[in-house]
Amino acid sequence: MSNSATSRPIRKAVIPAAGLGTRFLPATKATPKEMLPVVDKPAIQYVVEEAAGAGLSDVLMITGRNKRALEDHFDRNYELESALTKKGDADRLARVQESSDLATMHYVRQGDPRGLGHAVLCAAPHVGDEAFAVLLGDDLIDPRDPLLARMVEVQQTYGGSVVALMEVDPEQIHLYGCAAVDATAEGDVVRINGLVEKPATEDAPSNLAIIGRYVLDPAVFEVLRKTEPGRGGEIQLTDALQTLAADEAVGGPVHGVVFKGRRYDTGDRGDYLKAIVRLAAERADLGPDFKTWLRGYVAEEM
Ligand code: UTP
Repeated sequence: MSNSATSRPIRKAVIPAAGLGTRFLPATKATPKEMLPVVDKPAIQYVVEEAAGAGLSDVLMITGRNKRALEDHFDRNYELESALTKKGDADRLARVQESSDLATMHYVRQGDPRGLGHAVLCAAPHVGDEAFAVLLGDDLIDPRDPLLARMVEVQQTYGGSVVALMEVDPEQIHLYGCAAVDATAEGDVVRINGLVEKPATEDAPSNLAIIGRYVLDPAVFEVLRKTEPGRGGEIQLTDALQTLAADEAVGGPVHGVVFKGRRYDTGDRGDYLKAIVRLAAERADLGPDFKTWLRGYVAEEM
């Protein structure tokens, strides 16, 4: 295998959460979009749970202004805990404590949100010289369809970097980074030869879109330092990954894991609503009543 990071266990997860969340204004004027609830948990908690579930218990969150609620959510809340203890409400107490027991949390501020690539670069001093995972809070991966653990396994086999891919309708590819790929002997793994950020349908090399999970070789930091602002004046992670994919000598190969499970794009208002309806309908505690109401609503209103 071609680089030093191969086979060293992956321990660290980086979660960029410094974006402005403009698609959700005015909700995100003073509240980070990552704190918007998906049923009864903030979206970001699902993501930290996913990292911890894949064995990555060291989590660095990239935050910015107006993001204090994120730190508070993963910290203890003694006032609430003591009130619930006094009431003897063990169930709710456990729910309050859950988020502070998930992982060892670290925070760094991005300052100016100069793009996802720049946010990842802010993690360099904490990550050092080891491969690491990046999870975007907008992409909620259903916990029943583990993706990150498979990506970690693929990185340990092939070295280099691994991105998550999903087949999308060709009409939708302009919303995503898109990969040009070759097959490998493993059905869910492809070798990536090139990446383009948000191509027009007619220029897209495939219908495989990059979704918000990455396992990256630390060589990506050096590449990001040299990456000029791209689309939208932002430093794009996809541009840095394209540099890695174009020359294996830089940081090993780039592979993709093709994900066929359930994913919810909670950064988009329509998909956010769909995610809440689906997850609530499938919940054992809320689902039965909610579905009865939903059936009636659809029958009457639609
Ligand atoms: P988005 O493209 O979704 O941008 O960022 P955004 O600002 O969060 O949301 P909208 O489009 O204005 O509604 C993708 C991911 O990269 C992070 C975001 O927090 C999100 O998780 N990001 C983006 C940063 O951490 N820093 C940046 O400078 C840009």
